[in-house]
Amino acid sequence: MTIDRCFCFATTFTDLADVAAETGAATVPELQRHALFGRKCQLCHPYVRRMVRTGETVFHEVVTDADEPATAQ
Ligand code: FES
Repeated sequence: MTIDRCFCFATTFTDLADVAAETGAATVPELQRHALFGRKCQLCHPYVRRMVRTGETVFHEVVTDADEPATAQ
């Protein structure tokens, strides 16, 4: 299993990491001002939070809100 994007919008975490580096956006809502992702099922949100926190852009395990809570933003 490889998870490397918001599947609803086909936006890769690599692209979102680039957006974060270019804009300074550091939360899901901030990144959504610059990129189209995360506006349907929102299952990508915890992955994006981990991406911001660790720099990882490819995941091989399930990451949930319990692992990366929104309040940690
Ligand atoms: S996977 Fe990102 S909104 Fe569904």
